[in-house]
Amino acid sequence: MPAPDSPGPWPARLDVLQSATGLFLALFMWLHMLFVASILLGADAMWRVTRFFEGYYLFGRSLPWLVSSFVAGIFMLFVVHAWLGLRKFPGHWRQHAVFWRHMRDMRHGDTTLWLVQVITGFGMLFLAPVHLYIMMAHPDLIGPYESADRVWSGRMWPLYLLLLLLVELHAGVGLYRLAVKWLAVGGTARRRLMGLKWGFTVFFVALGLVTLGAYVRLGIEHAPHAGEPYVPTWQRSVS
Ligand code: HEM
Repeated sequence: MPAPDSPGPWPARLDVLQSATGLFLALFMWLHMLFVASILLGADAMWRVTRFFEGYYLFGRSLPWLVSSFVAGIFMLFVVHAWLGLRKFPGHWRQHAVFWRHMRDMRHGDTTLWLVQVITGFGMLFLAPVHLYIMMAHPDLIGPYESADRVWSGRMWPLYLLLLLLVELHAGVGLYRLAVKWLAVGGTARRRLMGLKWGFTVFFVALGLVTLGAYVRLGIEHAPHAGEPYVPTWQRSVS
């Protein structure tokens, strides 16, 4: 029988839920980056990826509501993960002061990484919902020209630039901390894991920057016709 003032099993259960949602979201973000980067293979390649997610190759026509439903699911996971994370934010100035003193005295890398998680997570709370809402409300406006127009003519690139840095830092540090916490990695393995973490972060930030550059370039070229959707090369009439 647990003591009357014992918190019971719930804090531990919520911890597992936070780790599980974090793991899913971090892996999703890496896949998302690869799909978005399909623009680097050409506009037709990105058009195919977009249609794939709209069920075009399965149902023979585009069903953008499929994308909206998927985005809604990701949005819900994001909210649950953020809510669980907020429990651990230092809420009072006194807690902030204790944390800063603790970090300064310990000079421990993993404690500093925790602060990186708090700051990047806090930033994403404001930026990610803007992007997610647009994707959910306008799933039919995803495509080579549609996305490039949003990035450049729709002035979304500064938000994406900031969000890219926040999300890749947060995902890399998050996965590292998950491995340390649940797989009890220590010693040399821990140092190797840290190297791997930085490798992934640098790779995805670099890929994100090159990809964003490609959307910006296409957006500038297409600006005089902003709003016109992309038509794949094989569907264009020869006149
Ligand atoms: C199912 C959910 C999502 C969908 C369908 C989606 C879709 C897209 C698309 C199509 C783009 C290309 C630009 C555009 O069309 O505006 C993009 C870019 C981007 N998305 Fe998402 N996204 C999703 C979730 C997220 C989440 C949860 C985050 C971060 C918290 C995120 C961060 C970004 C960033 C940083 C870029 C710019 C990437 C770059 O080019 O460097 N996305 N997303």
